[in-house]
Parts: sequence; C-alpha cells; structure tokens
Amino acid sequence: MASKEEKIDLILRPFRYDNDTLQDILGRLHKEMEKGLKKETNPDATVKMLATYVRAVPDGTESGDFLALDLGGSNFRVLHVHIEKGAKDVRLQSDSYAIPESIMTGSGEQLFDYIADCMAKFLEKIGMKEKKMALGFTFSFPCKQRGLDCASLIKWTKGFSAAGVEGEDVVRLLRDAIKRRGDFDTDVVAVVNDTVGTMMACGLADHDCLIGLIVGTGSNACYMEKLDNVEIWEGERGEPNQVVVNMEWGAFGEDGALDDLRTPYDREIDEHSINRGQQIYEKMISGMYMGELVRLVLLEMTKQMLVFGGRTSTDLETRGTFQTKYVSEIEEEPIGDKNPTMKILHSLGLKHATETDCETVKEVCRAVSTRAAHLVSAGISAIVNKMGRERVAVGVDGSVYKYHPHFKELMTQTIDKLTHCDVKLMLSEDGSGKGAALVTAVACRLAGKS
Ligand code: BGC
Repeated sequence: MASKEEKIDLILRPFRYDNDTLQDILGRLHKEMEKGLKKETNPDATVKMLATYVRAVPDGTESGDFLALDLGGSNFRVLHVHIEKGAKDVRLQSDSYAIPESIMTGSGEQLFDYIADCMAKFLEKIGMKEKKMALGFTFSFPCKQRGLDCASLIKWTKGFSAAGVEGEDVVRLLRDAIKRRGDFDTDVVAVVNDTVGTMMACGLADHDCLIGLIVGTGSNACYMEKLDNVEIWEGERGEPNQVVVNMEWGAFGEDGALDDLRTPYDREIDEHSINRGQQIYEKMISGMYMGELVRLVLLEMTKQMLVFGGRTSTDLETRGTFQTKYVSEIEEEPIGDKNPTMKILHSLGLKHATETDCETVKEVCRAVSTRAAHLVSAGISAIVNKMGRERVAVGVDGSVYKYHPHFKELMTQTIDKLTHCDVKLMLSEDGSGKGAALVTAVACRLAGKS
C-alpha cells in the first residue's frame, strides 16, 4: 500500500515539470507563434499573434498631459498622466473603480456608460473636466486592430461577457458613451493591450525592454517583432521595420496542444468557466484560476483522507472560496511559523486542521504556483529565443507576479536554463495605464501634436 506521502506525491506530480518537458512546451509554443504570424496558417492558429499599430517606443522627447483608461480586471482605472521631456518616469494621479459583476456581464452599453461615468467623476475631482486631453485606452482583451485607434473585440476573456461588444470597435463604443453624456470631451488617440502598455512603460527606463508580460487575473505577452516576420501585417511596410505583436498566448492549448499536461483539476476549472474550451494556457497560469486549482486539489486530497482527517467544510466545497492571494500568503510564511496558513484554513471552516495539514496545503500551493511560473517561463523563453538577441528586458505586471513571494526568482532561474540570453525582468508599477498614455504621447509627437 502506498504511504500518505506517496499518495500526495502522486496527486502533485503532474504539476511538476522537468527541463525536458519545459523545452517541449517552449517548442510547441514556438510552432504556434510561427503559425499565427503566417497568413495562410493564421486562421487555424490558437495563438493569434495580433499585430498592434505600435511601432515606436518613447524616445524621451514626448511631453504633455494625457488621460488613460485601464480596463481588463475587476477594477477599472482612470489616470491623468503628466509626461516631461527626458524624464525616466512620469507623474500620475489615478482613481480605481470596482466593476460590479452585473456590469461585466450586462450589456455593452451599460459597461461603456459606466466607464464614461467614472471618467466624468475623475475629471470633476481633479478639476480638468473642461480640458480636452488626448486619451490612451488600455483594453486588455484580444482585439483585431485596424489602426492605433481602431480595435474590434475578438472575444471576451476573464470574467467579462458584456453583450453586443464582440466584433465591435471598442473605441467607437467609448466615443459614443462619452458623446451620450456630453459633459466632457477627449480625443481618443490609441487603444493598447495591457502587455503593450507594460512594455512601453518599462521602455522609458530601459530601451532594451522589448517584451511585455502580464501574470494577473489573466496572462498574456507581447514583443517587438521584425515586420518581415509578420505576414499578417496589413499596414504600411515602411520604416520602422518592426511592430509590437500582442500574442494572446492565453489561448494556447485550445486545439488540444496541452492536453497531455492538463490535470483533472484543470479540466474541472474549464468545465465550470464562462468560456469553456478557451484560454487553456491562461487557465493553468493566471490569478483568476490559481486559488480554485488549489481548492480542487485539496478537495481530492480530503476525499482520499490525506488532509483534514478526511473532513471538508462547506467553504472548501464551494467554488471560488480559496482566493489566489491566499496562495501568496501561505507561501510567504516564514518556515516554522504556521499561523497565517492556520488562520486561512480556519476562515474556510477547517478548524480541525493540524500543523501537518498546513504543511500539505503549502506543498499544494507551491506545486500549483511553481507550475504557473514554469509555464510562463517557457513562454517567455520561446519569445526570447525567437528574437535571438543577446540581451532583452521584460516589463512585467499583474497581481500574481507582484505579490507571489517566489514567482520572479522561479522565473529568472527557469528562463536562465531555457535560453542563452541575458534576460532582465522589470516590475512595472502602474505600467498598463501609464503605457497607454506613453503610446498616445508617441503618436502625438509623430503627428506633430506635442
Ligand atoms: C486577455 C489579454 C490580456 C491578459 C492579461 C487575457 O485574458 O485576453 O488581452 O493581456 O488577459 O490581462
């Protein structure tokens, strides 16, 4: 008979990847990238490699006052960004507004009216309602762009499903909502993905920052690609001979490419999600699902009498109760001090948890979060190897990367094993909003508006 440790190990083993497996994942993603970039194969590619219209990074001569919007997670932010010539950073003030689930899943008109309403409140508060500013819109969902200020939503991801937005130009929806109110005006210049904003924001401090990464509620990456490699590019082909590609890597695996690596828990998460069969790689990585994965593993372990003396609680049996931030809190706990874990387990009605249970819970958290860091690292390494540079910086944002105590370290070690490039991970504070303002500023500079 297998011992308790052996049984626990059997459950966690599928989460643990050795070097060969990581190389294999890297290779599979590389293939998908090529498929996405080529005209003929793009329609069947899961990783869409969406060409953005961002082709230049800030050169330090941009300046002025800009508005930025950041929509993509459970909070919506409005920012006022002041850029000064030559500065390594920008000055900003911002407010955050929670988006009620009823708005995320209601109608598109309601969602954009809500956005315009938050903007009006913010402009009122900072006393700039009368000033017409150029605006950058960070919209963190897959979009087909036809210009810097034209982006139609391909599909919603994360918890969003607002009706009547898929297939529509989100800039037009925003402009219409602002017009409907009529109490302020802006000039919407650019729409960018959060990965692009993050890359641009870090680009101010490090000109080698040519990759943007988000590991938060969702996960995705973008990078600067040579135009010659982007067959799907429909814009003009003059200088600069490059364009930022929003990979939308969250969709990797939708054709079954990761099926051999998915655990029963991954399948269960997908079964109960609002976008079944979609965003498979994202569901193995990002914050929207990480806590839930841990909960499902713990539930199975309880069934097999490996934790909590085989006794669950109503909370442990309820979807979404194990928050992703618990994973970071549990793993952060200094060795020997089990209190935070015990407190979390108590709050979930597991008053009967023992010290040994706390150890097991920690081991589960570690397995799930380490797998996420490994998967992200394989993805970044695929990009880095494709770029073939000696040195590159990656601008990173997102709650999982930011708050997990070991994520960065794990990524640094793993990328080091998978590439021959000097890769620097840079945390981007407020990157996605700031970056939208920077893209706008660059566009205004190129158009001679600032
Ligand atoms: C979206 C991406 C976004 C990522 C991180 C994904 O669900 O499809 O556009 O960059 O989340 O926010």
